[in-house]
Amino acid sequence: MQALQPKLEEKKELFLSELIELLRIPSVSADPKFAADVVKAAEYTANKLKEAGADKVELCQTKGYPIVYGEKIVDASLPTVLVYGHYDVQPADPYELWTSPPFEPVVKDGNIYARGACDDKGQFYMHVKAFQLMMENDALPCNVKFMIEGEEEVGSANLETFVRENIERLKSDVVLISDTGIIANDVPSITVGLRGLSYMEVEVTGPNRDLHSGIYGGAVANPINILCDMIASLHDDKRRVTVKGFYDEVDEVSNEERAMMNSAPFSIDDYKAHLDINDVLGEEGYTTLERTSIRPTLDVNGIWGGYIGEGAKTVLPSKAYAKISMRLVPNQDSKKISKLFQTHFEALAPASVKVKVTDHHGGEAAVTPTDSIAYKAAAKAMKATFGKEPLPMRSGGSIPIVTMFEKVLQTKSVLMGFGLDSDAIHSPNEHYGLFNYYKGIETIPFFFQYFAEMSA
Ligand code: BES
Ligand code: MN
Ligand code: MN
Repeated sequence: MQALQPKLEEKKELFLSELIELLRIPSVSADPKFAADVVKAAEYTANKLKEAGADKVELCQTKGYPIVYGEKIVDASLPTVLVYGHYDVQPADPYELWTSPPFEPVVKDGNIYARGACDDKGQFYMHVKAFQLMMENDALPCNVKFMIEGEEEVGSANLETFVRENIERLKSDVVLISDTGIIANDVPSITVGLRGLSYMEVEVTGPNRDLHSGIYGGAVANPINILCDMIASLHDDKRRVTVKGFYDEVDEVSNEERAMMNSAPFSIDDYKAHLDINDVLGEEGYTTLERTSIRPTLDVNGIWGGYIGEGAKTVLPSKAYAKISMRLVPNQDSKKISKLFQTHFEALAPASVKVKVTDHHGGEAAVTPTDSIAYKAAAKAMKATFGKEPLPMRSGGSIPIVTMFEKVLQTKSVLMGFGLDSDAIHSPNEHYGLFNYYKGIETIPFFFQYFAEMSA
């Protein structure tokens, strides 16, 4: 695989320009206004897979956006790697906070800036290019299948059905995913845990219409005031979540694992400086690294209601809303937690308001093995290209399909991502390091080689 390095050098410019083309397509799955572009990103991906040498490339239709499939079977007796990624991206709002438009990629200071640069176009495209290099140089050591979806950022609602209907076609020895990060460019790591998610929306209704806040204020419940009270009560003075039963099933992590986790390089001062905050805040008794990986949390993602236009309008609104998400840890069941939240939240409401709680998407936490051949191959591959053994790290984000693949395909995943926490995924000015993009393309063929060798 060392032999591919000069070939990559020759193609760097080309591989970057292709990624830029992909990033120009605003494939925002959450917003129907971009529906045609989401499909365009799927077509672009399929074409590039074909050009790279994949067989049976297909846009598999679903009730939502298509799943791009392609494969190269070199020999049925060799192991098979299933590469998963997503070509859809988060909405780019708020646009005014971008220093360059989100769908007009620019390269600046060694980074490529665009929505989806890191999450996940820049990362899944590394696999397409690594595959191309292996194909062009007759160096594909095992079978590969690609499944790139377009609904990850909205909960992958149609992926499970597709997977269930294609169990044979998707049969593989490992699912390889680059949709996470490393600790730092000189501190490689492999993600071995992800949090689950319960995502709720609440609506609080007071009077049947907006009221004059002078005539009625003080006598009728203001749903925004009430909603704020209710939300404030969702954490106690130790910053623990008060939803009844919330912690009942939480897997407590051993002191050994906690100690190992906390020995990872991490500077709380840098962390605070990067975010421009004077202090951190979280559950008492846990470090920042623990709070963002092994502990469940609850956050309001958005809150609205009443008058938010120019100037002042004296109004006692009829309704208030909030979107509330909970990050879950292994052994918590997202459906159960959603139910617990609903019961708890409804019970919080005073008689003066009505409350409606709805459940958006959710998903389960995951822990991936570190003693598998695939993990060892990934660690060896990163060691080869970074010059350092990667650290196993749990992450706070969610990729619910990892647990689904395990359940439906009985196949475990390896989360070999190359992003950085500072890449601003889901935020304005998302970017991806060129170092990381090329490092990924360089590392992936090593994974294939070691995985094939170690499986033999
Ligand atoms: N790639 C992210 C998840 C991620 C990012 C995991 C960084 C670990 C480190 C993924 O695209 C994502 O954003 N997932 C959502 C959940 C999904 C159900 C919408 C998330 O974590 O909010
Ligand atoms: Mn992602
Ligand atoms: Mn994402």
